[in-house]
Amino acid sequence: MRKNIVAGNWKMNNGLSQTQALISDIKKQTQISDAEVMIAPSFTNLWHAFEALRQDNIEVVAQNMHFAENGAYTGEVSAGMLQSIGVKTVILGHSERRAYYNETDESLAKKVDAALANHMRIIFCFGEELADRKAGNEESVVESQIKNALFHLGADAFKNIVLAYEPVWAIGTGETASPDQAQDMHAFIRKTLANKYGKEVADNVSILYGGSVKPNNAKEIFGKPDVDGGLIGGASLKAEDFYAIVNAF
Ligand code: PGA
Repeated sequence: MRKNIVAGNWKMNNGLSQTQALISDIKKQTQISDAEVMIAPSFTNLWHAFEALRQDNIEVVAQNMHFAENGAYTGEVSAGMLQSIGVKTVILGHSERRAYYNETDESLAKKVDAALANHMRIIFCFGEELADRKAGNEESVVESQIKNALFHLGADAFKNIVLAYEPVWAIGTGETASPDQAQDMHAFIRKTLANKYGKEVADNVSILYGGSVKPNNAKEIFGKPDVDGGLIGGASLKAEDFYAIVNAF
């Protein structure tokens, strides 16, 4: 059965001392939900976070990686490098990567392959922009993002893939998709997967919602049947808020 997951995407925030402080605050929180908890610090703090959380039930994940194993790619980090410090999960396809670093469905398909070849788990992000939603194209945009980056994979690969629906218009804007909008899209995503891979595969994939999830709206969003958790940006930078969201399950 699919798992509930709450993952904090710290983005380009927190140097070492802030990372230490936030992790120490996180360790003081009490978890009453059954959700899997993950945090994604920047590359420079992954090793520290991994070491600091070794004994805790919190997984440390990367925000990105390159598709090549190694070589002349200045400034990049490979799946093997992440694996070498114990990081086993990577976020791919975040809308900020797509918008600012020209990541495309095609380049993301290569990253997906590289991550899976290295036995990593993927949190694969996608979502429509405001113009797409205004034009009523949100489903076709989401469908093509999923198909282009993932549908070359066999069904087994989905054991290591978590999907994260993040409407671009809701990220960091304070504007959340309504619980019904999230549910409608998540049900559509699951149907799209079921059409290609069958109901069992679709039912076992966790689909997270991301975009201005806060302590005051998490419960209602997570209460929807096809929403299996959240990818949390801003609210993951304060341990109390993050755990209020974790405990919304
Ligand atoms: P937000 O970010 O919670 O700050 O909207 C979500 C994300 O980008 O994953």
